[in-house]
Amino acid sequence: MSAILIRGGRLIDPAAGIDATRDLLLEQGLVAAVGAPGALDAAARERHATALDATGRVVAPGFIDIHVHLREPGQAYKETIASGTRAAAAGGFTTVCAMPNTTPVNDSPEITRWMQAPERNAAIRVLPIAAATRGSMGEQLTDYAALKAAGAVAISDDGKPILGDAIMRDALALGARVGLPVIQHAENTDCTHGASMNLGALSFRLGLRGMSVEAESSIVERDIALLATMRDTPAHLHVAHLSTAAALDAVRRAKAEGLRVTCEVAPHHFALTEQAIGDYDTHAKMNPPLRSEQDRLALIAGLADGTVDAIATDHAPHAPHEKEQEFERTPNGITGLETALGLSLQTLHHEHNIPLARIVELLTSGPARVLHLAQCGSLIKGRPADLVIFSPDETWTYATSHSLSKNSPFLGWDLPGRVYATIFGGWVLDPAKSAGA
Ligand code: DOR
Ligand code: ZN
Repeated sequence: MSAILIRGGRLIDPAAGIDATRDLLLEQGLVAAVGAPGALDAAARERHATALDATGRVVAPGFIDIHVHLREPGQAYKETIASGTRAAAAGGFTTVCAMPNTTPVNDSPEITRWMQAPERNAAIRVLPIAAATRGSMGEQLTDYAALKAAGAVAISDDGKPILGDAIMRDALALGARVGLPVIQHAENTDCTHGASMNLGALSFRLGLRGMSVEAESSIVERDIALLATMRDTPAHLHVAHLSTAAALDAVRRAKAEGLRVTCEVAPHHFALTEQAIGDYDTHAKMNPPLRSEQDRLALIAGLADGTVDAIATDHAPHAPHEKEQEFERTPNGITGLETALGLSLQTLHHEHNIPLARIVELLTSGPARVLHLAQCGSLIKGRPADLVIFSPDETWTYATSHSLSKNSPFLGWDLPGRVYATIFGGWVLDPAKSAGA
């Protein structure tokens, strides 16, 4: 592996407090030096480094997505770890955390290790999130210590909530003892059965059963109440794909009270509303559903003011024959790894004036903090050489996908933020080549 000198870019490294023109020298898969423009030229010559010109572009730590579905084991026709991580690399990600709703469910150290084996051919770092309960059935806790030892970075029954009060309290308590955050898919499934969109005037008009805002916020409030009884422990609640103003307010209040609660928001929830369903477009069906404009604007305020800790895609690939059915029968979810940066720049930066550095934080040091990923999310000397080079204003068209699935409402969209290079462990990834294109 040859050394690389990245010259002349605008380095945005929120964890290090840097937003300035800087050169970076990468060597042996690590950041060897960060310096003023030109300051590393001599060192780079000595090492026969390859030069990469980043003038006019942003250089940032590789993005971290703490919520993806890679579908292996068991559903490789939708996505494999290899294909999903290539899509991630194309979107500027160098670390993804894989949810356990695979087939079988990842509730064991064996599956957790299998997902990280070199045979999976991951293009970037894959960190498994293991099931909170056996088979994600919500009844018996899994072995958190063994799952952590096998590499799990959090536990969750994502796709389903941890519904019962007692089992959720036990999950938080065991997570605290072992040092794993509990990620909750906040949905009171007792009242969302058969629902396929947000509850309101539009669901009534379309003749579809709706999911209420309260079905999300009531679980977030319940979980926060449980957490409040564990103040003197390291119990950590993380709310997945938060989609409503009411749930966001609950998180904001809990944070103000000093509780260890964090949350993430998905790009589709800040970029779209339920109106995107239009004429029953199944590419606008996901769980939680697209919400109202009022909810969307509240999420954007939370992303701006620090209440939201991370942008996470909930990348949920499904095959065409699954998405091309009647609206109510199609599975929930859309792909998201390739459009996260573009949607963040378009909606948050260009339309709502959220500074670039805050957006980079929501994609790097924010998620790293949520899951205690000490090695990821910053480009200080000695860290892995995981980074992305992108042009924030240059538009590109989302025409093809590296994912095995194409279930995105954003295909055909023009978005800002072209990714020029994703570098993982000092290797410049070429997503087109690795996809065989
Ligand atoms: O839209 C979703 N898709 N929401 C979920 O909770 C699960 C996910 C999936 O696995 O497809
Ligand atoms: Zn999910």
